[in-house]
Amino acid sequence: MPAIVLVGAQWGDEGKGKATDLLGSSVDYVVKFNGGNNAGHTVVIEKDGKREKYALHLLPSGILSPNCVPVIGNGVVIDLSVLFEELDGLDARGVDTSKLLVSANAHVIPSYNRTIDKVTERFLGKRRIGTTGRGIGPTYADKMNRIGIRIQDLYDEKILRQKVEAALEVKNQVLAKIYNTRASAVDDVVEELLSYAARLAPMVADTSLVLSQALDRGDTVLFEAGQATLLDVDHGTYPYVTSSNAVAAGACTGSGVPPTRIDSVIAILKAYTTRVGEGPFPTELHDDKGEFLRKTGAEYGTTTGRPRRCGWMDTVVGRYATRINGVTDFVITKLDVLTGLDKVPVCVAYDVNGVRHDEMPVNQTDFHHATPIYEELDGWWEDITHCRSFDELPANAQAYVLRVEELIGARVSAIGVGPGRDEIIERFPLKPAVAS
Ligand code: GDP
Ligand code: IMO
Ligand code: MG
Repeated sequence: MPAIVLVGAQWGDEGKGKATDLLGSSVDYVVKFNGGNNAGHTVVIEKDGKREKYALHLLPSGILSPNCVPVIGNGVVIDLSVLFEELDGLDARGVDTSKLLVSANAHVIPSYNRTIDKVTERFLGKRRIGTTGRGIGPTYADKMNRIGIRIQDLYDEKILRQKVEAALEVKNQVLAKIYNTRASAVDDVVEELLSYAARLAPMVADTSLVLSQALDRGDTVLFEAGQATLLDVDHGTYPYVTSSNAVAAGACTGSGVPPTRIDSVIAILKAYTTRVGEGPFPTELHDDKGEFLRKTGAEYGTTTGRPRRCGWMDTVVGRYATRINGVTDFVITKLDVLTGLDKVPVCVAYDVNGVRHDEMPVNQTDFHHATPIYEELDGWWEDITHCRSFDELPANAQAYVLRVEELIGARVSAIGVGPGRDEIIERFPLKPAVAS
């Protein structure tokens, strides 16, 4: 005890990496349980008086905390070339990566799935999802279709070859006959995967057992979600979602730690909203206010560099995140970005064809047609980046947080006022007290 789950409340890029890094120094394990290198987390750390920026994709953000064991759980899909590239990059910067553990049950992203991801998007045309093109969707589809390749398969060449053959029997037909692209050779795929096996071997573990024993010992385990609630394959804006369970419940299936062991759920909520890729977004701004948020918040994707779509805070989404994840604590990030606005609109409900919706419409078509109903709160002009306690915030910034807290229905325990590790206000402790 305790086990803490950290999730994104909106459409991703809320600042989960920074929040994980913040908790990293006081937890023993950080577990990535879903997604893969579609995620992009930027963490800014002060080292010898200089600000150092780290961009992580596949590795849990806890890897930057020296005493924390980073774990890649069974629910993750792994591009092995990216894994080693990222490890090499961190090693070169003096980060100790030697404690990393990788689940034997996690699936690998074979090169043919990157190709399929990209050509599928091309063929979907204007119905495309706007994926990151990393092969995430096809790899999760293979997992469900029971033609996936797992980490443990790398250690039985005969089995690996059989599995790659089975997968390519179908895929090569699709690649060649439907998409008119080059088929993949079994030998090439097997050879590439085997080339990683020896280096990976010391990291491979029964991570479910490791985490269970850690919790028995009283260690603290933090589960860090990739993506976010509205990108979850079951609870998000389907089909404009990623292909994994990014909500808190995914921490259990994606790690092998049962729901009865989870003590708290922290959700990260940006003070406004962003989205990358296609799909509905009721509070999206297409005017100079949207441009203001993009510029001031540096809203460009960590993974693909795409400009993020920007809009106001949507508390219908926030309330939904509270319910779906069972949020115990919120961290509101990037409050500093809202400084300098006369009025700060907050979406409190939707109008759908003249009908008010206080909760997420059950029908996706209604969500596509939702017009936000705004409450306009007064803005503030004072620089808040130096504030370290709630009382130091200007009265209007405090009022903004308190109103959002009331609307989303769970307490706001921390507030981000800048990208740096220390640029945060902790109102309430984020780590639950250890039960005696
Ligand atoms: P993640 O995917 O949820 O980890 O988020 P990203 O790293 O993709 O995007 C969040 C961005 O906001 C990063 O560039 C962070 O450095 C930055 N950030 C996080 N918290 C704050 C904050 O409170 N204020 C400001 N200005 N930037 C922040
Ligand atoms: P982090 O962890 C924001 C989006 C993509 C696309 C959709 C499906 O940094 O918050 P995929 O490649 O996963 O099949 O793409 O999901 N997406 C993200 N958007 N942040 C992310 O991760 C995302 N990961 C995927 O843009 O719309
Ligand atoms: Mg991100």
